[in-house]
Amino acid sequence: TQVAWELGEVDKGKYAHYTLKEINDQRLTVANAARQDEAMMEKFCKVLSEAQSVYITGSGTSYHSALIMKHMLARYAKIRAETVMSSEAQDGLVGLDEGSALVAFSQSGETADVLESVKIAKKQGARILGIVNVTTSSLARASDAFLSVNCGPEIGVAATKSFTGQLALVYNIVARLSPAGAFVAGEKAEFVKAVDKVIATSQSAIEKMAGKMEQVNDIYLLGRSTHYPIALEGALKLKELAYVHAEGVAAGELKHGPLALMEKNTLVILLNPRDATYNDSLSNAHEIKARGASVIGISDAGSEVYDHWIEIPHMAEEAFYPIVEVIPLQMLAYYLALAKNADPDYPRNLAKSVTVK
Ligand code: G6P
Repeated sequence: TQVAWELGEVDKGKYAHYTLKEINDQRLTVANAARQDEAMMEKFCKVLSEAQSVYITGSGTSYHSALIMKHMLARYAKIRAETVMSSEAQDGLVGLDEGSALVAFSQSGETADVLESVKIAKKQGARILGIVNVTTSSLARASDAFLSVNCGPEIGVAATKSFTGQLALVYNIVARLSPAGAFVAGEKAEFVKAVDKVIATSQSAIEKMAGKMEQVNDIYLLGRSTHYPIALEGALKLKELAYVHAEGVAAGELKHGPLALMEKNTLVILLNPRDATYNDSLSNAHEIKARGASVIGISDAGSEVYDHWIEIPHMAEEAFYPIVEVIPLQMLAYYLALAKNADPDYPRNLAKSVTVK
């Protein structure tokens, strides 16, 4: 049930860039994560649920998926996991043994830092659970069990559809590991429709917004709980594609430092869907506004505190907000790159797959 593809086959079709095509591909690819080989899925989940200690690793965007997985495992499956940035594995992956499992995320399956962390974990006897897009990759081969995000070739250097594929796969894995009914994922999951809707409805408004942001040099992205990793991911997209200094901030940390930077002309993007984090994050928006900064709110609820409101669909399952709210951020980074005359597919100094340490 894997989607077969060869790199040479991919073309941009009607799209100006691969990145734009891949953003749009997500309308379909987020459903693919549910299509797994049943035996492999079972093995993967068995190793994960039987492990005495669980570690999760990745680089760049894939590390942000690791952060979301940690939240989801804790909240729904009551499994405690530790996240380790692959480039920090030397100090982070210590004290593992035969009872440990390392979940390694990598779109390419070839990132040197990720392969190195797998090596470090294996040496201590840990089982390796890979999450890849390229099923013939080194990571897939080094894994005791691996699953594919199944999103087809991703050419744009900045990860887009592989990230939402990873999140969709996390939802499917966590649904299996959670008490019955705690959580429903699958091909027809609520987020599949919501992702489609956001892409269909918000593109032109975001393009317009990006057109007015050419002069912006700094952007702060704020979110709490599972929205914090998305703030980090949005900031990474803006750095990679639009060459803007962007910083993801855990919203609760605002008062511990970043608030000092809020003044007239500061731009803040607040991830604020109507879930348990809503009221606290809304108060942050007021604090920021009181210092004269502008706030773009990404939410299913509008508020007078936002200078701009990017509307996302309301989700009955609040765990699905991250996969939906990241889409406007990907689009903003893409259109801001265009506004600044940067090449969104091949950002300067970066490589799609970093195979050296
Ligand atoms: C590079 C890319 C990033 C990507 C990271 C991890 O740095 O530029 O976009 O997130 O590698 O890639 P991987 O293939 O391991 O997911």
